[in-house]
Amino acid sequence: ATETEVELMGKLEMLPIYQPREKFSNKGTYGHALVVGGSYGKIGAVVLSARAALASGVGLVTTFTPKCGYIPLQSSFPEAMVITDTDDEKITAISYDIAPTAIALGMGMGTHKETHLALKEFLKNNTTALVIDADALNILAAHKADLKLLPPQTVLTPHPKELERLIGTWTDDFDKLKKAEAFTKKHGCILVIKGAHTITVFGNKFYVNATGNPGLATGGTGDVLTGIITGLICQGYEPFIATVFGVYLHGKSADIAVEDYGYQSLTASHVIDYLGRAYLNLF
Ligand code: APR
Ligand code: MG
Repeated sequence: ATETEVELMGKLEMLPIYQPREKFSNKGTYGHALVVGGSYGKIGAVVLSARAALASGVGLVTTFTPKCGYIPLQSSFPEAMVITDTDDEKITAISYDIAPTAIALGMGMGTHKETHLALKEFLKNNTTALVIDADALNILAAHKADLKLLPPQTVLTPHPKELERLIGTWTDDFDKLKKAEAFTKKHGCILVIKGAHTITVFGNKFYVNATGNPGLATGGTGDVLTGIITGLICQGYEPFIATVFGVYLHGKSADIAVEDYGYQSLTASHVIDYLGRAYLNLF
């Protein structure tokens, strides 16, 4: 069965995916997200991603950043627990004493040599589900042998430039999708091709998202998407389903938020704030 499967994903496709909140549940039921990233001047990327994971419905959120992330995270995000590296400005060793359900990795992380070594050491020992974004993708693209260290069904969320670093240049959209398919088969991963019509690729499956708008073309919205997908995996959605649903909710939230803020003024924070409306809009 090597037949290509192309699906347009709208509300009707999401309804059977959605898992309702159980009455007799507690925060342990909904998993624990760990958000790893940040560097001096880019802690905001982790704040956005972690807040988005929480808004997606995860039970607990912990962040891991350089030491300079401690005060901003503790003061802007009281719901999160904060663990820090020994280095003030960059990640040099990823270590923690929690058991996360899924881990988001890379937002605002920088590509410092020490950060690459820390990432490699971490990947060698890690078996937890991963969602990899931004600078962690850039590091992996520069050290492709390390892609072997990813657990099965790792989700990669590159924007066009990051995608090009991973799969190489393409001649047209068809060529891009062929290369993406080959990449996901080779590495056993899920690839989110972000843009106006985000496509989630997993082997022969190409799921095209129906939500989202140009208001999303603003800094930090990608970090929010990574947090949402991670939060959904924590809640028990299979990685591919979590990705498709996460991309849908992210776009839907932006579609509802533009009604209040307009395309020009929409921010990544609004996408987090309207996520609940995106869930409610399913019914
Ligand atoms: N229509 C619909 N959706 C869009 C549009 C558009 N015109 N433009 C962007 N988006 C969506 C994308 O699909 C994606 O989900 O907004 C998000 C943008 O994600 P990124 O490009 O990763 O942007 P972001 O992460 O916010 O940028 C911050 O992160 O990856 C690094 O190098 C990147 O420095 C940058 C930083
Ligand atoms: Mg990004």
